Amino acid sequence: MKKLWSGRFEGESQAWVDAFGASIAVDQQLAEEDLIGSLAHVQMLAKTNILSAEEANEIIQGLEKLLEDNKKGRLVFTAENEDIHLNLEKLLHGIIGPVAGKLHTARSRNDQVATDMHLYLKKEVIEINQRIRLFMEVLISKAEENVETILPGYTHLQHAQPISFAHHLLAYYNMFKRDFERNQDSLKRIDLSPLGAAALAGTTFPIDREYTKTLLGFKESYTNSIDAVSDRDFILEFLSNSSLLMMHLSRFCEEIILWTSHEYQFVTLTDAFSTGSSIMPQKKNPDMAELIRGKTGRVYGNLLGLLTTMKGLPLAYNKDLQEDKEGMFDTVKTVKDCLTVFSGMLETMKVNEATMYSATTKDYSNATELADYLASKGIPFRKAHEIVGKLVLEGIKKGIYLQDISLSDYQAVSELIEEDVYTVLDSKTAVERRNSLGGTGFEQVKKELASANKTLVDM
Ligand code: ARG
Repeated sequence: MKKLWSGRFEGESQAWVDAFGASIAVDQQLAEEDLIGSLAHVQMLAKTNILSAEEANEIIQGLEKLLEDNKKGRLVFTAENEDIHLNLEKLLHGIIGPVAGKLHTARSRNDQVATDMHLYLKKEVIEINQRIRLFMEVLISKAEENVETILPGYTHLQHAQPISFAHHLLAYYNMFKRDFERNQDSLKRIDLSPLGAAALAGTTFPIDREYTKTLLGFKESYTNSIDAVSDRDFILEFLSNSSLLMMHLSRFCEEIILWTSHEYQFVTLTDAFSTGSSIMPQKKNPDMAELIRGKTGRVYGNLLGLLTTMKGLPLAYNKDLQEDKEGMFDTVKTVKDCLTVFSGMLETMKVNEATMYSATTKDYSNATELADYLASKGIPFRKAHEIVGKLVLEGIKKGIYLQDISLSDYQAVSELIEEDVYTVLDSKTAVERRNSLGGTGFEQVKKELASANKTLVDM
């Protein structure tokens, strides 16, 4: 088959080599963006009189027909035609004949492919942010139901201090808010038109880059034609932001997996988000959470893959850049799927309040309360810490907790301890009283919730 670029070639191409160089299996996902880019380009060619109105109209009609056929899934692409750009040009030729050859005036596949990717990623980042927002909504409503749900807060995965479950959930809310903001900020660098950079150096034709930028709905244009065709920072930034997002989802999944275990039993996932075992009849596994945690690896891989592809590339376009797409498409799909599945899993997750609370009554997570109690009565905190440490040690030996020690035993340790110590030791009181700014106290958590709800409205 004759290649669109075969003028300077004498030898025959080899199908198996062509197959290696082809990207159509991957970049056919860009068909719509490619056609939209071509439509803007040809309109500009007519406006600047580079093509006649008649020629442009024929091309526009052909492109519109292709757009329609593409929507219906009727276009047939081939590896011989290498990539989405050459495939579509060939198909256009099939519809309108030789005038199709004028479409590529003052354009190169280098600025064409970059334009496609900018259009694609802009649309997808906006879509991903909508899903992050929905996820944040679910988080907030779960938090609203659980302001006074008490569970152990952990450091080193050891019981540390009791906390409000809402406060724990809102910690995640803050991470996803940052993920949303990072995506939003990245749009500044995605919403750029490379069209008109041509191969790398611009063109001798009197093109109007402002016009194509406006037609395509881009906010700005690249100001340097070499940068326009060789920049893939915007994809790397997307992959990097997605890696952070996945890391957050993965940490959260890890906790849910722990919480569903027999040892914790803090939450129960609905059947729809769990799976069974083919051999062990009793099993109910948190597969979806595990899979989201697992898929985090492939997103990191996509980031590292493209960073490595880019690191030695001289300016401007190199065929290596064709490798920028697969990881980007895969990341878009992975992130979207994970957000949607997680939203459903979280929304339907049952919180076992009583089990959570009871975990704070059979531990020493109220030890800081007692030390603070003594410190507030004038004992230096370091001294108070030591006194309570000794009481904990004794308690462990006797198999009792701080709330089980009698008042007379307490008073033998310090005259300053009174009946009210038992209120202080209660884990719910302990949470309630942590009313410092940003702390887990109910009042603070309610403030956090109010501000989270307000943020959501403004997003
Ligand atoms: N399929 C190519 C890619 O995705 C399009 C650009 C090809 N440009 C070139 N000069 N060979 O990168």
